[in-house]
Amino acid sequence: MITMVKPLNIAHRGFSGKYPENTRRAFLAAIDEGGCDGFESDVHLSADGEPVIIHDAALERTSNGAGMVGGCPFSTLRELDIGSWKGPEFAGERILHLEELLEIVLDHHIVLNLEIKNYEVFYRGIEEKVIGCIKALGAEKAVFLSSFNHISMKKCKEIDRTIRTGLLYEYPLLDAAAYARRHGMDAIHPQVSCLAYSPKLTGAAHKQGIAVNVWTANTEEEMRLCIEQGVDSIISNYPDKLGELLASQG
Ligand code: G3P
Ligand code: MG
Repeated sequence: MITMVKPLNIAHRGFSGKYPENTRRAFLAAIDEGGCDGFESDVHLSADGEPVIIHDAALERTSNGAGMVGGCPFSTLRELDIGSWKGPEFAGERILHLEELLEIVLDHHIVLNLEIKNYEVFYRGIEEKVIGCIKALGAEKAVFLSSFNHISMKKCKEIDRTIRTGLLYEYPLLDAAAYARRHGMDAIHPQVSCLAYSPKLTGAAHKQGIAVNVWTANTEEEMRLCIEQGVDSIISNYPDKLGELLASQG
């Protein structure tokens, strides 16, 4: 009998379906209300080289600031309000340093899929900074990295081959798992529609020892597709709905 391992319930940018993404509030709610196994989150570098938790390279969409994340020192970024855009009740949320996010992860014994946002702005030295921060807190086992910048992932492996790395992609690729394996990666991170297009993707990846972590499954249909294919992690804006569905599967 084949025993299927339950996929991890990973809250995309925290519980971002309900709370302002990548904020302390969204992360804590993903645990308390969403019952997640971990978070997905995004990291950039401030002008003074501090790893900071935010999705966009520019500040306008999710803060009351303007300009580029990489153009501001951490002290300036910290003054910004990153909650109000989602609703006045979320005013006062502050951008987190990676260290603070890792502390939440370690305190709650959960995992973190940290996406290095190194493909629109190329942050010099971001791989060393991120890995240095992870190691300083002893969080190596709790974290798995990913990026759309596959060269950046390779660089992470060169810095420390024990750090888990994954290749993000949005559209169907040829031999994705073989490509990941060839470059010493641990996982592929396909967009969920790639699963519908290539139903054998997960099986093929697992045969090569490559994990499959899928984003962003927000509808029940998408979540079911991931579960049926036996993926390793499901990344969703709705950890609560995903948790209910996973529980109903027994
Ligand atoms: O890591 C999965 C997903 O977050 C990738 O895209 O734009 O939501 O960061 P994005
Ligand atoms: Mg992301």
